Order: sequence, then structure tokens, then C-alpha cells
Amino acid sequence: MTREQAMARHAELAEQIRAHDYAYYVLARPVISDQEYDRLYRELVDLERAFPELVTPDSPTQRVGGAPLPEFGQVRHAVPMMSLDNTYSTGEVREFVGRVQKLLPGAKLEWVVEPKVDGVAVSLRYENGVFTVGATRGDGAVGDDITANLKTIRSVPLRIPSAHAGARTTGAAPDGSGSKLQPPRVLEVRGEVYLTRRGFEKLNAERIEAGEEPFANPRNAAAGSLKQLDPRIVAKRPLEVVLYGIGQADGEGIPATQAELLSWLKELGFKTPEKHWLCRTTDELFEAIAALDKLRPELPYETDGAVAKLNSFALRERCGATAKAPRWAIAYKYPAEQAQTRLRAITVQVGRTGALTPVAELEPVFLAGSTISRATLHNEEELRRKDIRVGDIVIIEKAGEVIPAVVGVVKEKRTGAEKRFVFPRHCPECGTAVSRESIAGETGVIWRCTNRDCPARIRGRIEHWCSRGAMDIEGAGEVLVAQLVKSGLAHDVADLYRLELGQVAALERMGEKSARNFLDNVEASKQRDLWRLIFGLGILHVGAGVAKSLARHYATLDQLAAASRDELTQIEDIGPVIAESVYAWFNDPANQRLIERLRSAGLNFKSSLHRPADAKGPFAGKTFVLTGTLPGMTREQATAKIESLGGRVSSSVSSKTDYVLAGSDPGSKLDKAKSLGVRVIDEAEFLRLAGEAKL
Ligand code: IVH
Repeated sequence: MTREQAMARHAELAEQIRAHDYAYYVLARPVISDQEYDRLYRELVDLERAFPELVTPDSPTQRVGGAPLPEFGQVRHAVPMMSLDNTYSTGEVREFVGRVQKLLPGAKLEWVVEPKVDGVAVSLRYENGVFTVGATRGDGAVGDDITANLKTIRSVPLRIPSAHAGARTTGAAPDGSGSKLQPPRVLEVRGEVYLTRRGFEKLNAERIEAGEEPFANPRNAAAGSLKQLDPRIVAKRPLEVVLYGIGQADGEGIPATQAELLSWLKELGFKTPEKHWLCRTTDELFEAIAALDKLRPELPYETDGAVAKLNSFALRERCGATAKAPRWAIAYKYPAEQAQTRLRAITVQVGRTGALTPVAELEPVFLAGSTISRATLHNEEELRRKDIRVGDIVIIEKAGEVIPAVVGVVKEKRTGAEKRFVFPRHCPECGTAVSRESIAGETGVIWRCTNRDCPARIRGRIEHWCSRGAMDIEGAGEVLVAQLVKSGLAHDVADLYRLELGQVAALERMGEKSARNFLDNVEASKQRDLWRLIFGLGILHVGAGVAKSLARHYATLDQLAAASRDELTQIEDIGPVIAESVYAWFNDPANQRLIERLRSAGLNFKSSLHRPADAKGPFAGKTFVLTGTLPGMTREQATAKIESLGGRVSSSVSSKTDYVLAGSDPGSKLDKAKSLGVRVIDEAEFLRLAGEAKL
């Protein structure tokens, strides 16, 4: 392919991918299958690999994460990012309208009502149509430069007018006069980064699976994600953006009202609020607020209120602002569904990773569609901050699908008999002193029981191993697992494979029939695919997704176990934190013994996800023969590396051999290679080939 052909194809692919991103992420109406999309994307990646000069900052490949930042830079907003005055009272909304009318005597007021999206405010700056800088609000004047993180969000166009606007004008302007939607020279668009409820639940489920602390609500999850210094992590969080305002805007055709602004932003390719209401009277404004309240449960994200804004920008100008907020807008917050009940007790749960979580044991109360008797108290800090005491009447809240949480205490109802809760410094299960751990990039600390033989942790590990997402052993519920552990029959997951019918049948509430069923299920689990086993091991940070990546990369558990930290880091989806955790796990002698016992029990260690033949890699289709002792790696490690990069290892040299990798004291294979003219390489050259082609 010539450079010119490459350029033309690059432009074509980039254009198509932009259009598909828009259709998928902004309109939520995909036009091609994920597979077709992946094919286009791969072609673009390959093309850019061959012609690196074609990579521009707004290429669709430039979304997914560069290297972690040491810290965020600062960005001064060209126009300050203000906040909004809030109220929970409709009376105050009426007063607000009165105030604005007084500021604008005789003016005919029009309002726009929009959902107040419960996310994190951001500003996106475009220069000549290209996304240049994205920032948080910060103190309103200066925010954090989170450009790299924002680029990972597919609904943030890297270029405007978007593919969609371009495509439209191509058809609309056959005379070649170009787009009537010229991007302004400078445009700062403002809005909210958020997680949908679905995205939030999925993210939390993954975190719990991986032994990590779940986020308290979608807003915290979005904020925590944007604060990540590693954009590769952010790329995996299902973040979305919605835009409803502008800051600096220099150019032609900037709209004069909010309603026009919203359709203009949409035309430029931005995602705007699902719905807004243009209201010509105060009554219409209140009708809109009520209509939005009805609609809220159907919106895919959490909304905590309605924002009422003056429609005309010229009139806004005349209203001005206070130090913090404009005088022309107000946020009306809908009351969250709350209930009061007595906090009977606080218990502390110990998870399989040893994390201690305080749980509120409540007098049952009906709230937002279900009866609630337990609620999470998150962590010790949260307890202290809210001064929650046993015996208190507490306020619990449930917003949407969020886990019920204790939001506060009704202090007036205290009798003096309430007791402060002393967070245990010893594991409530086994008495071991707990150790404190802060979580990088997130608030709060976790206390962990470090005793790996803690019964709660053993139960947790076995339950996790048996869970549907892991080894899928039916019948192994909480009760049975607790019995197995308590009776001493199972101390770890390998023990499950030594259980005898008589032992299980003798357990309380177990008949011979259910015991037999259970053991059949245990037996069947021996054939599960390798990724399930890896996931089932419960390695910190290894959820099902990571387990699959590992099982795609390695053909067997032994290859994974032999991997170095560096090698692990190079695998797709595996960053340094995960790599360290996996490496440490497999290099722990106790875990190595567990693996050996699983092996002798006859468990499958082979991965069906691994596809060396199809694998694209620098060694794709290449055959290696190993001979002699390598200075820096074992034969297993060399084999794993070759296979992971798409090659295969054969035991004898033939004319089909591509490389002989020779160490010290090579045998007759070296002679044979020489006589056949096969290329002989040493370890240094091997690593160079492996690294060079990988990029
Ligand atoms: S307008 C100068 N519109 O709520 C006025 N804000 O509590 C700028 N928010 O800082 C804000 N949805 O982060 C506006 N439709 C919406 C909004 C919205 C959510 C956020 C925004 C703002 C905060 C104030």
C-alpha cells in the first residue's frame, strides 16, 4: 500500500468509526454489529502501526489509555464554572421566579427545564473542532486536567462537527460548499460525566467479585473513576457524558437561547439531555418539574432534581450571578425515598479477602418497593463521620437501584441509651489483629483480617469457588459450605474433591440423595474451563474478565503460574497492580501446594479460550525449537512467551523450523539447525524479537 492509499483508507476508516461511535454511544442506535465494528477498528490500528505518521490526536485509536500520570495538571477555565442554587421547596422555586421577574421588569420569561444529572461536572474544550483539553470544575476557576480520562469516554467526540454532521452535509451539500455547521474556533462545552444504573451495578459486581470495595452510588463511582491517574483503568469504567451548557464560545452561529443551544450541541455530535421542556409560564414550569419526576425512573441514570434555566442568553446576562451561582437558574431537588427505623445492632462481616464491612441490622421497614432489614455502613470512617450509634433511630434511603444506605441519625430521638460502636481491631471471626489499608485513588480505609485460615475467609473462598460465575457447583450454598468448614471436612477448595458420600450425607439436613447430587456437581466441575478456575481462585483484582484475558493468553495454568510480572503486564487488560497480585499469588508456596492438590484431584488446567493458531502476534505462525540452558528464563517461560505471542514450540528441528533458540550446552539440535540453515538465536535476540514486534 502506498502512503497516499494509506492516507485515504485511514480517513475513510476514521470517518466510519466516528459515525459508528456516534450511532452507538450518543444515539444508542448501533447500525453494525460489534464484530464488524471491531474489524474496522483493528484495520485502523494495523494501518497506524504501518504508517505511524497517520496517528492524529483525534484518531479513534487515541481514546484508550496512555500511561498513568504522576498527577493531574491544572486548567484555568476561560469562563468560570459556576454551581447552582438548590432547593427542596416548590415555594422557593416560585420565589426564584419572582426574583428573576423583578430583575427583568416587563420581560416575557421563558424557561427550560432539564434533568439534573447526578454526575460530575466537566468542561470540554474544542479548538478548530478538535478536542484539546477536558477538565473538572475544581473550585470553579481552576480544575484538574483530565483530558486523557475523558478521551476514553466514547460519547465525548474527539472532533466536531462529528461524523454524523459530516455525513449529513456530504449529502446535503453536493456542490462541495462544505458543512454549514462550521465548528467554532473555540468552544467549551459543559456537562456531566455519569454512570448509568446498569453500568454502576455491573462495575460494582465486578469489584465485589475481584475482592474490591464497591462504590456507594453511581456519582461516587463516576467521580472516583475520573480521579484515576491511569486512563487504562478509566477506559474500563462504563462512563458516559451529557452536555447542556457552554463556556467560552468564539465563532459564527452561536445560539442565543438554551433550547437552541441544546439542538445545536446535538447537531455538533454531542449527547444532550434525553428530554427538556420549554416553558412559557410559571405553571408550565411546575408542570415540567412534575413531568420530569414521573419520567425519572425511566431514565437510564440517576437524576436528583430538575434544573430550571432562563431560556434567553441575553436576559441571563442581565440577571448576573452571585459569587457562586447564576441568578437565572435554580435546581429543584426531588425528595429521595427515605424511611426511619431503629438500628438494632451493627455487625461486622468478613469477606473472603479479609475485608471487614460494618452492616446495619435494622428493624424491618418498607421502602421504595421492598422490606429492608440490613443496610451497608460502608466502612469505619463513614460510621464515625455520621456518628451512628447502636439504638439510634436512623434515616435510610434508597435511590433507584442503589443499595440501601444509612444516611443519617435522628439525633432528637436519642434517649441517651445509644451506644457508640467500637470498630473491632480484631477479626470478629478468628480474633486476629486486623490491618489497615488505604485504597489508592479512593476515600476511606479498609480493615482486613490477614489470617488466611480465618473461618470466614475460608467460607468466603469456598463459596466463591462454587459460585455460578466461577466453578458453578450447584448445591454449595452458604449453609452447606458453613457446615463443611465447621465440621473440618473442607479447609480449602481442593478439599471439596476429597469428600466422600458418607461424610457429606452425615451433615445436618443432608440426605444421601442431596449429598450424591452435590458430589456429582463437584465431580463435573473438574472439567470446567480454565478461566473459571482462575477466577475461582479468588486472586485479588482478578474478576471474571481478567481471568478470561489470562486464559486467552496462556494455554495452561502452569504457563500462567510461571509468568513474570513484566510478562503479565504486557497482556491486554492487565496493569501493574493486577500483574503484581497475580504474580504474588502464584509465587506463594501455600498457593503452589493448593495448585498441586487440584492437579492431583484431576482438575482441567487447559484453556479452551487460548488460540495460538489464530493468535496475531509477532511470532504468529513461527515454529521454535529450544535447546540448551537459557541464562535468564526457564524452558517453560520461554515456551509461554512464544505461545503467548502466537508462535509454537516443537521438540525437533526440521526444515519447517523458523528459529532455534539456543542457550549454553546446546545438544545436537544446534548442529542440525546449522546443517539445515535454520536461523539460530540466543536469548537476547529472542527478547529483542519478542519486544520489538510487540510495541
Ligand atoms: S447548569 C451555571 N444543568 O448540578 C450553571 N447543571 O448542583 C451550570 N448539573 O454544577 C449548571 N445537571 O454539575 C446544569 N442540566 C443541568 C445539570 C447540571 C446536573 C450539575 C452541575 C452543576 C450542579 C449544581
